[in-house]
Amino acid sequence: MLHHNAVMRPHPLKVARWLLPPALLAAAVRPGAGARQRTAAGVGLLGLWAASYARYRERGKKVTAHERELLRTANLETFSRHYNECVPTLEEELDIWGEYHAHRHQMRYDLVAEMTRRHVPHNGSILDVGCGAALVADKLGDLPLDYVGLDYGGHHIEFAADKLRSGPPLTIRRRFVRGDGEHLPFRDQLFDVVVMSEVIEHLLRPELAVWEIARVLKPGGVLVLTTNNASEMPLRSPLTDPFSWLEKALGFHRDSIISHRPWVWPWPVDRRILPEDAPNIYLPHTWHKQAETRRMFAAAGLETIHASSFEFPPPQSKSAQWLNEHGEAGKRIVDVVEAICQHTPLVNRLGCHVFMVARRTTGGLAAPPPGIWPGPFSEQGSEDDTAIAS
Ligand SMILES: C[S@@+](CC[C@H](N)C(=O)[O-])C[C@H]1O[C@@H](n2cnc3c(N)ncnc32)[C@H](O)[C@@H]1O
Repeated sequence: MLHHNAVMRPHPLKVARWLLPPALLAAAVRPGAGARQRTAAGVGLLGLWAASYARYRERGKKVTAHERELLRTANLETFSRHYNECVPTLEEELDIWGEYHAHRHQMRYDLVAEMTRRHVPHNGSILDVGCGAALVADKLGDLPLDYVGLDYGGHHIEFAADKLRSGPPLTIRRRFVRGDGEHLPFRDQLFDVVVMSEVIEHLLRPELAVWEIARVLKPGGVLVLTTNNASEMPLRSPLTDPFSWLEKALGFHRDSIISHRPWVWPWPVDRRILPEDAPNIYLPHTWHKQAETRRMFAAAGLETIHASSFEFPPPQSKSAQWLNEHGEAGKRIVDVVEAICQHTPLVNRLGCHVFMVARRTTGGLAAPPPGIWPGPFSEQGSEDDTAIAS
């Protein structure tokens, strides 16, 4: 048993690990050091760096594999009850989180709406998959468009439809459908633009949604997508986790570089929606690797014409907390930070969310080929075994 005044001594190996890099660095740069000493210290530093990176990579892969296993606990019944009973509409959530978070979300809606405006023809048609409270449509109200909002959560659609009934008259013509993004209830080549903002990460079989979107887009039509940007970063500080920042920047176009990719929402679903003796169930919250998603798009006949990232700094960070506490000034500062980060090479790959735009080409495979998406449910093949009854 430890006495209160017992001194906790760090393990000598840990102390050596902290002291070695600065000692080697000092040896390498010391004025008057000989060439052999400099080389030996440099090689030592490189060896240490390689060993720590190998450890980081091994740990990242282990955590990723564990999360992928947790995702196997997900099932459609729980998925359905979770969306319909536990998740407030995004508009309600924004009221709960407060003005700063609402401001950040408006930035995303502006980004998506601006890109949509650029690609939708006069009197064109838009499908918003997983439309939630239809906040994207709110930004397009002045356009003469046919807008269809599709969502899996019944109360999301009802909320969006109520808003339409009680709101001011708009030029946009809106319709809402309850359905599953992995099995779209529409005929081929119907829409000019498909929007899918912060939805693909929630799907059990995202590849099915991508093929469905390719099917319902007209040739030349465009998908506007936002989702989580792999890897685990930038949820941690670059000072404590430089490898994850480096991996995220360098892995934007080479996904094999990224060793840690989250698969599930970190907490299991509310036990109140589960039978008493059921094990915990985790639902998907997959972080997309831009290059991997781009390959999937290409196989489905969707050519990526834009890829960037946004949302700096991450909402969980201390700097975001500080900005949140500074009202209007905080909002203005974060707008400037966002603009600078989005336009700075390499840094612009580090945002929390990836923003991709892809055009429907005439090519593409008829169905997702094996291995195009590495999720645990994709191993089952492409038969219609995950259909959600609406
Ligand atoms: C984070 S919210 C985003 C909502 C909206 N796109 C926005 O940006 O405000 C995710 C939405 O996806 C919907 N969703 C999840 N899985 C779905 C599925 N398989 N098919 C259709 N909608 C789905 C949820 O009901 C929820 O409204």
